[in-house]
Amino acid sequence: MSSSRSSAVVNALSRPVVLVGLMGAGKSSVGWRLAAALSAPFFDSDTEIEAAAGMSIADVFERHGEASFRDGERRVIRRLLDGEPCVLATGGGVFVSEENRDLIAERALSVWIDADVETLWNRVKDRSTRPLLLTADPRGVLLGLWKGRRSAYAKADIRVESPPGITHENMVQRIVSALAARDRDDPARPPILRRDPSHE
Ligand code: S3P
Repeated sequence: MSSSRSSAVVNALSRPVVLVGLMGAGKSSVGWRLAAALSAPFFDSDTEIEAAAGMSIADVFERHGEASFRDGERRVIRRLLDGEPCVLATGGGVFVSEENRDLIAERALSVWIDADVETLWNRVKDRSTRPLLLTADPRGVLLGLWKGRRSAYAKADIRVESPPGITHENMVQRIVSALAARDRDDPARPPILRRDPSHE
C-alpha cells in the first residue's frame, strides 16, 4: 500500500494508537509520521514528562529517581488517553507495567514495534540521553531489557517488525496496513480506522 493511498482512505482514528517497544524501536520518529498519515494528533510520553517536570528525562531520573519517573509516566498516559484519539509514542518502560497495559487495552490499540537487539543497539549507541544505558555495559543492559521485556511487549494488540535499514515511511506503511488488516479480519470489533467514503 502506498502512503498516498493509505492517507487518502483514512481520515480519522476511532481510538488512540499506542506505540510500544524498546528504546531505539523508532516509536517517536515513526509515531509523528504515522500521526500525520492518519490526520491525528501526536504525543510522546517522554516529551510530555519533560514538559511537565521542566527538565530532561535524565535529570528526572537523577534528581527524583526512577520510581518518580514511572509515576509521571502513569499520569501522562492516563491524561493523554482521556483526550481526542491520538498516536502516542511511549517510553520503553510504559508497557512493562500491568497497570499501564490494562489502561491501554481498555482505551486504545497497542502496536509493538519489534526490532532485533543489534538493530536497536545501532540506533541508540551514539546517544547519551537514556539514563538506563548510562552504565559501564550499555549493550549488555539493552540485551537484558530486550530479553526481559519481550513477554510484556508481546501482549500488544499488534506486532510490527522493524528490520534493519527500513525507512520511517515504510514503517508507517507497515503499521497502517496492519491496522487496516485488523479492521478487515475482525469486523465484529469497532474499526480503528475511520474511512472517508468520499475518497473511496
Ligand atoms: C526507558 C525508555 C526511554 C525513557 C526512559 C526509560 C525505558 O524512552 O522513557 O529513558 O525504561 O526503556 P525510549 O523508549 O523512547 O527511549
